[in-house]
Amino acid sequence: MLYFEIKKFLGSKSLNNKRFILFLENLFEKSIYNFTKEDLEKLKKYIEKYIDLFKSKPPDYPIEYLTKKTYFFGYKFFINENVLIPRRETENLVEEAIKVFQKNFHAFKKLNVLDLCCGSGCIGISFYNYIKNKIKYKGNIKLFFSDISLKALKITKLNLKFHKMDAFLTLQDKLKAFKSCKFHLILSNPPYIETNSPFISKEVKYEPQIALFASLDFLKTLSKEVFYRLKENGVYIFECAPYQIRSLKSFLNSLYKKVEIYFDYNQLPRGFICYK
Ligand SMILES: C[S@@+](CC[C@H](N)C(=O)[O-])C[C@H]1O[C@@H](n2cnc3c(N)ncnc32)[C@H](O)[C@@H]1O
Repeated sequence: MLYFEIKKFLGSKSLNNKRFILFLENLFEKSIYNFTKEDLEKLKKYIEKYIDLFKSKPPDYPIEYLTKKTYFFGYKFFINENVLIPRRETENLVEEAIKVFQKNFHAFKKLNVLDLCCGSGCIGISFYNYIKNKIKYKGNIKLFFSDISLKALKITKLNLKFHKMDAFLTLQDKLKAFKSCKFHLILSNPPYIETNSPFISKEVKYEPQIALFASLDFLKTLSKEVFYRLKENGVYIFECAPYQIRSLKSFLNSLYKKVEIYFDYNQLPRGFICYK
């Protein structure tokens, strides 16, 4: 019933209703079918408040940037235009990290973990949340986040506060600032789209260029810098594009003891697990 009332109300507002409903659902964090009578008054106020912003943006502008939040690995994250909107395939990286943790590190009393090129911090925060709250790991995890963008690190900080976590944040290019610190696990979704790639999708056009574009050489340099910042038997897990797998594999094999490829939800090769 309420749904029809809302539809009627929106009908008089001359906008893309389907998109606006999606926007409202994301804002309220529930399906429009589950809106209660109490929500309605709030909803009308929200609509008055957000309608101009909504109309001022192009029809393909990401809803997540409008509501400034999204979900990743079942957890809520705040975002804005200074960070990448976390992707589904990056959830596969977190799954791999959890598997590696269970196989290699669960008996460790202390663990240093770095989310490199952290953006919103979604990888490190999800990993930590999962192993502390779902697996109930009792050891001590020192969590590090680093990014070249100060604006991105501000969002990481906001998300850490929201998830009630403590961590070390470092503003740096790749791993340049870490001189002595070494890690058991380094997780990264670095920028990896090559500017001449035929696979650049339209959805990236509102996202920060620095979060998206990099050369294959950048990925190689990063893998090398990571190697020297890993402890003995440390593990580096990173995401790349499926078409980069072949070119990276032999390079990684020349550096690491063992290199495995992992796959995403679409069964596409999506990244590497590299063992030092
Ligand atoms: C693809 S985004 C990933 C963000 C987040 N980890 C995620 O998965 O949603 C890549 C991030 O790398 C950062 N970045 C780009 N170049 C970098 C560099 N040279 N050193 C460190 N971070 C860099 C960007 O600022 C951006 O936040």
